Order: sequence, then C-alpha cells, then structure tokens
Amino acid sequence: MSKQTYRTHYCGEVTETLSGQSVTLSGWVHRRRDHGGVIFIDLRDRDGLVQVVFRPEAKAIFEQAERLRSEYVITITGEVIDRPEGMRNDKMRTGNIEVVGTALTVLNAAETPPFPLEEHNTISEEVRLKYRYIDLRRPDMAARFQMRSDVCRVIRDYFSSERFMEVETPVLTKATPEGARDYLVPSRTHPGSFFALPQSPQLFKQLLMMSGFDRYYQIVKCFRDEDLRLDRQPEFTQLDVEASFVEEADIQAWAEGLMTRIFSEVMKVELTAPFERMTYAEAMHRFGSDKPDLRIPLEFVDVAESVKDVDFKVFSGPAKEADGRVVALRLPGGVDLSRKEIDGYTKFVGIYGAKGLAYIKVNDKAAGIEGLQSPILKFLTPEAINDILERTGAQTGDVIFFGADKANIVNEALGALRVKLGHDRGLVNEGWRLLWVTDFPMFEEADGRYYAMHHPFTQPTTMEKMDPATSTARAYDLVLNGMELGGGSIRIHDQAMQNEVFTLLGLSKEEAENKFGFFLEALKYGCPPHGGIAFGIDRLVMLLTGSDSIRDVIAFPKTQTASCPLTNAPQPVALSQLMELGVRVSAKKETAA
Ligand code: AMO
Ligand code: AMP
Repeated sequence: MSKQTYRTHYCGEVTETLSGQSVTLSGWVHRRRDHGGVIFIDLRDRDGLVQVVFRPEAKAIFEQAERLRSEYVITITGEVIDRPEGMRNDKMRTGNIEVVGTALTVLNAAETPPFPLEEHNTISEEVRLKYRYIDLRRPDMAARFQMRSDVCRVIRDYFSSERFMEVETPVLTKATPEGARDYLVPSRTHPGSFFALPQSPQLFKQLLMMSGFDRYYQIVKCFRDEDLRLDRQPEFTQLDVEASFVEEADIQAWAEGLMTRIFSEVMKVELTAPFERMTYAEAMHRFGSDKPDLRIPLEFVDVAESVKDVDFKVFSGPAKEADGRVVALRLPGGVDLSRKEIDGYTKFVGIYGAKGLAYIKVNDKAAGIEGLQSPILKFLTPEAINDILERTGAQTGDVIFFGADKANIVNEALGALRVKLGHDRGLVNEGWRLLWVTDFPMFEEADGRYYAMHHPFTQPTTMEKMDPATSTARAYDLVLNGMELGGGSIRIHDQAMQNEVFTLLGLSKEEAENKFGFFLEALKYGCPPHGGIAFGIDRLVMLLTGSDSIRDVIAFPKTQTASCPLTNAPQPVALSQLMELGVRVSAKKETAA
C-alpha cells in the first residue's frame, strides 16, 4: 500500500503565492455552506482556515461533500485559485484564494459538537472546560498555545546562550513555604506520612547553587492551594532561575535581556532596557499598590496635612494617626459622573473595607468654593478645601475622590479604584510598562505575628540590627501593566543569619530543624552567595495574548473551585486504596457558610 499523503501545507499557509498549484490539506470541517449548487467548506487545522469549493460538475466528489458535517476529519486535494473579485475576504489570511476540491477522503465522522466553534462568549466556561479538547480547536485558542510554545522556546534559547543549565527538581517533596496551603500526597510506603507538592522549587534551586551548578533555570509546575482568581491557578508554571556570585543587578539584567528578546521575537515589539525602577515605598505612596499599572495616569495625593485639624472626624482621625492615611485621587474630567455611578464606586471601594468615598466635584474653579459640589464641603474649612485643591492641582471639570482610614485600607481601596477608573474612563495608555519594584519590606505583620514578605530565604538589606517592623529585603518584583510577572531576591547564604530570620518569624529551634534542618545543614558546607527570580509563565502569556483569564492560556485548567470538569478530578477513591495508604476520611467537611 502506498503511503497516504495527508498534508502538503497547513491551511493557514495557503495564500495567493500558491495560485495554480495543487495542495493536500487535512483538518476539520469548520463550516459547510451550500450556495447555488456549490458547496463551500471552511477547512480548519491548528494553523488557520481555508475555503474549499466543491462544484457539481465533479459529481462523485460533490456527492461525498454533501455528506460532510461540522467537525468531520477530512483530507482534501485541490487546486488553489484566486477568488473572484468581490468574493475576497480581507479578514482571513487565506481570504484571497480558495481551493477547488478534486479529491476528498473522510478520515472520521463526528457527532454534532456540544457547542458551535464560532460562538465564543455565549457558552459557559464549565461546558468549554468539560469539552476542552473541542474548545482548543478554535483558531484563537490554538494561536494562544502557539504563542505559549514560542515564549518557552525563546526562554530556552536565551538561557542556554547565557550558559544556564536546565535541571529538574522533585515534585514529590517537602513543603516549601511561599505563603499558600500545600497539596499533600499520602505515602503508601510510609503510612501516615505525606509528601507535599512544591509551591516552588525554592530550596532545591538554592541547593543546586551549593552544588556549584552556578546558573540554573527550569520551566516547572508549582502547586499552591489558595483562593483562585483570574490570574491564579492551583497548578501553574514558573520560569525558575537562580545564579551564584551575583547581585540584584545581574539577575535584573538577565530578566531584562529575556523579556526584551521575548517581546522582540514573539510580539515584534522592541522594549527599552533598563526598565523603570521604583522602591516599594514610592509605589505605595503614589499608587497604593506594589504592582502599579503605570499606563494609568492617575496618582494619589496625600492630604492628611490639609485636613488634620478639621472637625470631620472621618478625615482628621486617620490624618492624625501614625498608621492612618488620607489620600485624594483626582479624576480629570470626572464631573459628568452621575450620582448612581459614584454610588457604584462607593460600593466598589467597600469591597476593600473602605467605609465611604467622599468626593468633591470642581464645576467651576474660577468661582472658588461656590463652584464646588460635594456632600463634605460643610465639614471642611475653606483653608482645608483650598489646600486640597492646590495639592491636587484640580481644574474645572475634575472630580476628587478621597480615602481616609488605616493606610492599608486606603491603599487597597483607592489603589483598586484608580485602576477601575482608568479602565472605565478609557484612560489606560497603550503600550507595555515594565517596572521593577525594589526594596520590599522584609516582613509583614498579620494576626499579631510576622511573615516573610517574599520568603524566609531572602537576605535583609542590612545584616545589622534587624527590626521586623522596618527591615527591608534585597527583593525585587517585575511588574507588567499592573500585574506581578515575577519576583525574586538575593538569598541568605549564612547559616546564622538564616537562623535569625527563622527566629524573627516565630519558628522555634525545633520547628526550624524539623522543617528546614536539611537546608540549614547544607548552608554549612560551602554555600556561595546567590540569588534568583521566578516568573509566572501563564501570567506572561496571558498578558501577551491579551487574554482576560489565566485559564485561557492553560490547556487543561482548573475551575474557580479547583476542579477539572473534563476528568471530574478530584474524586473520592476506593476504600481499599485508602487502606493501602493508611488514610481514613472523616465525615465530609461542611462547606463553610
Ligand atoms: P513568587 O511566589 O513571587 O516567588 O512566584 C513567582 C511568580 O509566579 C507566579 N505565580 C502564579 N501564577 C499563577 N497562579 C498562581 N497561583 C501563582 N502564584 C505565583 C507569579 C509570581 O510573580 N520562589 C520564589 C521566586 C524566587 O524567589 O526566586 C517564588 O515562587 O507571576
Ligand atoms: P458620612 O458622614 O459617614 O455620611 O460621610 C460623609 C461622606 O464621606 C460620604 O460621602 C461618605 O461616602 C464619605 N466617607 C465616609 N467614610 C469615609 C472614608 N473612610 N474615606 C473616605 N470617605 C468617606
């Protein structure tokens, strides 16, 4: 039997340069239309769509074509011809030609798919995920995964050209703290004991530095059992990087080299390096966020000084407190906001704990206080009002919003409002704004104790007199258009310092030994100074492809409740399997009300 030719070209490649030539294509019937006795098929493969015509003159093949239905898998051979004038489609890469079918083989029939492949938004995500293999047939989905693959190819090219080694680290391992819950795997051979899936390869990549591997990278799955959002999955992919004998500037230069290369090769966009830099303190001060979207031209103005002596306690209270903050956010041209819209924004900041959203509309600046409109004017002195107008630089037509509360609430609430207003009002500038945020606090406080803000292996800026309330860390994040793309730090390579940080984090000697004994011991046997970074590949691809959800760039993602509608994972297991593992399941946990 002679070998079957399935394909001479991918569908998307069939353009006018092939006019007059014969091509063989294989793929799926995207659509069939019958027009005036002629059958048109849009044939689809991962590369694109092409129109195939079957004319009644070729009787046998025409009859075959009449039996084609959506999603049949076929091979066709035919001649590429220019489409008649007026029949061209500028929106399609292959829109100037069509293929006149001369041979047709049906490789497999298909039942009517559970949803038509053209209509994107009308189908629930649950259904899309249940039939993910069909969902991924859509040309726009395939394009996302092509880009993801291209990004990974550039990453591998780049790091191998910089002499980094790709090394795999274990998936069945011990907890690595990155601030989330662990996914646990029971051990059959050690009943009652559990592996943890890595939240990141942090400890292993540091151990590889102790092995002298010097420059390491890995494209690696990480697992975190945490609340899911549009930019978070329980199982996600990091580009993990570590190097020895380096400082912040070295890691950042590699990251900039990589990003520049990805943007140039994949997006045809030339970035300028070095990227912008901003300390954590400045980012919080100006934008209330450690991942400010610099495309939005709105900034906080502190007005505590203006209002600390007014009778309005809502403002003067936080203005006088050490941990309070009073911030004004000026929205140029915002006077046209209706009462209803402002109520909407008040509700929105409420999500972040803000108790209200005071505002002043500047209807006519020249008219002084008479020209202002606001429910809080009566609570403020003319001096305070003028001071606010001056500090914010308010002009006729602007609205000024206010947040007054504990600094963290104001930062979160007005930080989120800034982003929302930017989008709602069409103020988001075009482009890619990459930003390094540096000098993070070493610790953060919650529930009366301290946590490592990055992770406990991060080196404090100074080794002298560590104060959990004020110490900063040699940590840095890379932010792209308001999303945290990556984060890293220079690590502690000294055992005594590592012990001290564990102590400040409230870990007893025994706990530290139990959790990280192997690591503390390793630090004794010749650990070079080292540092690194990890990037969220899913997040990067999400931004590059303009996707709204991280799920659109993961082939088989989990839902909001961390399950998989396709396989129905996770599932209960047989009692015998549990017994083998030495595991007993207690009554099902009630879902928290
Ligand atoms: P970090 O915890 O900041 O650092 O993670 C690095 C990057 O991984 C991405 N990311 C996620 N993406 C999708 N879903 C998630 N649940 C998720 N969690 C994190 C983010 C983030 O910036 N070991 C350190 C790195 C280091 O210090 O070298 C670490 O994991 O884009
Ligand atoms: P009240 O006196 O509580 O009615 O508030 C008067 C105005 O101040 C209203 O517009 C509230 O939305 C606003 N407001 C109340 N609390 C805050 C706050 N913590 N920050 C900003 N504005 C507030």
